[in-house]
Amino acid sequence: MSLSRRDFLRYGIVGGTLMSAPLSFPRPAWALSPQIPRFQQPFRVPPELSPVRSDATTDYYEIRLQKAMTGILPGLTTATWGYNGLFPGPTIRQQGGKRSTGGRQSVVRFINELGQDEQGDPISSVTHLHGMASLPQYDGFAEDFIPPNYFKDYIYPNDRAATIWYHDHMIDHTSRNVYRGLAGMYIVEDQVERDLGLPTGPYDVPLILQDGFFAADGRMVFDDRDRKSVYGDVALVNGVPWPRMAVGNRKYRFRILNASASRGYNLALSRDDRRLTLGDTLIVIGSDGGLLSEPVEVKTPYQVLEIGMAERYEVIIDFARYPVGSSVFLKNLGFTGSIDSDDRIHTLMRFDVVREEPDDSQLPNTLRPVERLSPTDAVRTRTLRFERNSTGWVINNQKWNAKAVMLNPRAGDVEIWELVNPGSGWFHPVHIHLIDMQMLDRNGRPPRPYERGWKDVFHVGEFETVRIIGKFGSRDGQYINGKFMLHCHNLVHEDHAMMTIFEVGRGGNDPLSAPARPVSEMRSL
Ligand code: C2O
Ligand code: CU
Ligand code: CU
Repeated sequence: MSLSRRDFLRYGIVGGTLMSAPLSFPRPAWALSPQIPRFQQPFRVPPELSPVRSDATTDYYEIRLQKAMTGILPGLTTATWGYNGLFPGPTIRQQGGKRSTGGRQSVVRFINELGQDEQGDPISSVTHLHGMASLPQYDGFAEDFIPPNYFKDYIYPNDRAATIWYHDHMIDHTSRNVYRGLAGMYIVEDQVERDLGLPTGPYDVPLILQDGFFAADGRMVFDDRDRKSVYGDVALVNGVPWPRMAVGNRKYRFRILNASASRGYNLALSRDDRRLTLGDTLIVIGSDGGLLSEPVEVKTPYQVLEIGMAERYEVIIDFARYPVGSSVFLKNLGFTGSIDSDDRIHTLMRFDVVREEPDDSQLPNTLRPVERLSPTDAVRTRTLRFERNSTGWVINNQKWNAKAVMLNPRAGDVEIWELVNPGSGWFHPVHIHLIDMQMLDRNGRPPRPYERGWKDVFHVGEFETVRIIGKFGSRDGQYINGKFMLHCHNLVHEDHAMMTIFEVGRGGNDPLSAPARPVSEMRSL
């Protein structure tokens, strides 16, 4: 392998001792998964989960956390941990919004059947529904865990339409648990969105992006490089390595979720796998917290869609621009800090336009109004510094402490938070639980057009200060008090221990007030 100067610098930063190595050295042995041909495996989407029961207000679901042997690389099997044994988990699609407009509540029972890990330790798990304004005891507090042979019923209000996801949030072990499969998509829809006429049904498609590193026998290798980051060299989309998706020549809506532990992606379309072709367009219509106010075009060669860990972007791709018989690639142009030991990770999947297909879907010029929060409404500004010190990854020099509250906004207050990454070599995708916020600026410059909607993850790049604004504890005038987490969503940083607590108001429910119970006490839902 010959490294470009850029790659060399990346290795230099991470390896520490490589700076004096010659510009060309053999590909390190750890950097290779079995080399499978790309764009051969058929694309698939995770199955949608049906409720076990429904009543007037609520749908009840049941999910078992299970080990499974999963076929990921052709001809090999991989031991995975999954929701209902699936990698990734089943998708829940739910009707959101106010009760008066048809919104429904979900109760999801998670039953932990994972048993022990390879070291003989129990695999405990916490479920967090990322992007939902849940009460503290149902939000997946990192120490509110479900031991093996325990279960917990989580209540989710489905208060607004958005593409969100559920994943493990186990204290100290989130990176390993998510990497091994504990992640799934959760889609909340509503009538406002349906009335827009966007592509639906088979044309409304989840794209869950992950990366994995596999040993020759198919085992997934978890190497967090001395608690820095975990990277794979196999691109997985919905659990399939480099899939090929057969599409009609019409519009599709893709719900893109970056469920990787540490890898960010710079996405672009191209008709060529090796280089960027001109004018290929992703049309961004939604971000973490739902639809943008209007579509935003991201067009090659000068624009990319940057998606850090845990971020969601929804895009329209109009395959009518491509002749039947042609192919388009979803490219990943690399990312700050990511270690790309294999170039092949720079393409994620291929779309083959295989048929003519009528298209009655719409792409309106305006989507859902995003009411801008104004800095003049803010009652205070706080600063949060995300950095690495001799003890690990810290926020304002503190590591995770389940007993310590770092910030205490009052319910209903508007606050500005300055998220600071004073260093280089990595970025921090900062996630705030409970509320959607908006980005004001990045190093004083306006956010990218697709970052102007509601978000719960903010990409804080090298030497960047990102200012965000939010109203605490309120959605639709309803206040939720209590303790919630905020953390870096590089899951290795989060585990060691770039995570802290903010408490909205006083007197909220204790996050530990609805603990998991033994399976022997379980009654049917
Ligand atoms: Cu997606 Cu606190 O997590
Ligand atoms: Cu979250
Ligand atoms: Cu980080």
